[in-house]
Amino acid sequence: MNFSKQKRYNKSVVLLGCILFAGFVGLQATSPEISNPAISGAFKGPKEVTSIFERACYDCHSNETNLKWYDKIAPFSYVVAADVKEARDRFNFSEWDSISKGDQETKLWYMVNMIDARKMPLPTYTTIHPGAKITKEELSILKNYVIDLSRKNHALGDTAKIKTGGEEVVKVEKERGHQVPTSVNGIAYFDDYKNWKVISSTNRFDNGTIRLIYGNEIAVNAIKENKIKPWPNGAVIVKVVWNSQHEDAEGNVKPGNFNNVQMMIRDDKKFKDTEGWGFARFNGLGLEPYGKTVSFATSCINCHRMVPENGFVFDIPTKNKL
Ligand code: HEC
Ligand code: HEC
Repeated sequence: MNFSKQKRYNKSVVLLGCILFAGFVGLQATSPEISNPAISGAFKGPKEVTSIFERACYDCHSNETNLKWYDKIAPFSYVVAADVKEARDRFNFSEWDSISKGDQETKLWYMVNMIDARKMPLPTYTTIHPGAKITKEELSILKNYVIDLSRKNHALGDTAKIKTGGEEVVKVEKERGHQVPTSVNGIAYFDDYKNWKVISSTNRFDNGTIRLIYGNEIAVNAIKENKIKPWPNGAVIVKVVWNSQHEDAEGNVKPGNFNNVQMMIRDDKKFKDTEGWGFARFNGLGLEPYGKTVSFATSCINCHRMVPENGFVFDIPTKNKL
């Protein structure tokens, strides 16, 4: 490059720089503003839980967005504004009371899973806000909180009062004749569980469903002998869910319509990808197998992984209740 060419070249670089800078300044004028609407029903958890969410999630999932100066510079500000809008739409800690107790619980499970999978807080955000990262200890504080909340929401009902009310299902099974509904992973529906021991029953106060949990002999013995880490092969646990309950004149709680059956079958070789548990779920009176591909079981185990101390089973009765 000779001298005059170099000079011209330098000029164009300066010119280009000026144009870009002017564009950049102009862009700032259109930079989106993020407002913080009033808080209508704030999330109220224990202090140590709330403070983790405040630090790591509130910039996006609440009306208490507190942006740093560099978040307000275009073009980043566009990305940030879009993230905040989307995040508030998904769930908003400042409007927490506007969703039902059941939805709150489900969202909290979802949150713990997202943090565990390192999908939240958004990695693009933690690179520039490293203080928002969540430590292992903090994750376990959140996990324990959600597990505790679930236990409270599914307070143990009085099994003796619950009449199993499986008549409807039996009727439908008879009508189906020989067709046995089968889950994509090969687990076929069976109804032996109706003769098994009820190991637990749970009431959900929020949507009024009744759940009965049955265990086969291997499962019941494993509980009695406290050999559930891991559970022995062949153990089977079945959960049956009915819709809206009602009480009859004698005060017996009666289940309403049948909703679904969920199964966990222990085979540590066949189901080693899902911690040795095979999952299946059959919906409605038609016992429609749930899940289009075998990967549906991943979503089941992801939640059940919260209770490794119970061999991934939530409702373990104490021995003397069996
Ligand atoms: C920088 C903004 C930002 C931060 C900080 C952030 N999120 Fe998100 N979050 C989003 C966006 C955007 C979405 C929707 C798009 C997606 O799923 O990737 C989302 C979606 C989610 C979802 C899925 C909700 C649904 O119903 O679809 C969960 C759960 C979640 N976030 C949890 C959290 C938790 C817990 C934290 C704090 C530990 C957190 N997020 C921090 C932006 C954020
Ligand atoms: C959102 C978290 C979550 C997901 C996802 C989930 N479970 Fe559960 N599961 C629970 C909780 C909490 C309990 C205990 C309370 C109850 O019975 O409702 C439970 C209980 C059960 C039980 C009774 C044994 C036990 O662990 O107490 C079975 C069987 C079961 N689930 C099967 C399934 C199947 C099959 C799937 C996937 C189709 C699934 N679960 C997905 C949270 C989850």
